[in-house]
Amino acid sequence: MDTNRLSKTIEAALNDQMTKEAHASQIYLSYASWADSAGYEGIANFLFRHAAEERNHMMKILEYIQKRGGRVIITAIPAPNPDPTSVNDCFNKVFEAEVDNTNSIYRLVKMSLDEQDWATWNFMQWFVKEQIEEETMALDLISKIKIAGGETANGDALYTLDRDLENTPDDARSAETVTTDNP
Ligand code: FEO
Repeated sequence: MDTNRLSKTIEAALNDQMTKEAHASQIYLSYASWADSAGYEGIANFLFRHAAEERNHMMKILEYIQKRGGRVIITAIPAPNPDPTSVNDCFNKVFEAEVDNTNSIYRLVKMSLDEQDWATWNFMQWFVKEQIEEETMALDLISKIKIAGGETANGDALYTLDRDLENTPDDARSAETVTTDNP
């Protein structure tokens, strides 16, 4: 008896999305490391915390595939893009990466709708909601760097921004408690 409740297409798409979340974590890790080496410790801390959150997203999908009797396939994670050239560039790239991830999640929602896989459709709604928060977070970063002067932000403005982000709360801690049962 086949106990896999996922179609082959959905199973493959969920595995792809799981790897995409791992890739997102690598992107944040690489940008955080860049920020740290450029002297922006507050920005680095913020991005490191977010890298942990992306890994939680990866685990959430992994748990769901298993729960539905599917097969989790762990593959190589693509390398992140080259280092940002500035804080302005970094924050814009964060936003682009989040929009790209949102589009990927929307494809999965559409796929589950087309296949009438309501369990996966329902599961993916958590990610739809989460992406609103993720894009808001990225847009807030862009607003902050715009106010600081964008590409021509001076040292004082970047120092203040860096200190501000060090203390900016994010939902990394609560995401650590996220499970499939307790989204
Ligand atoms: Fe897992 Fe930033 O989306």
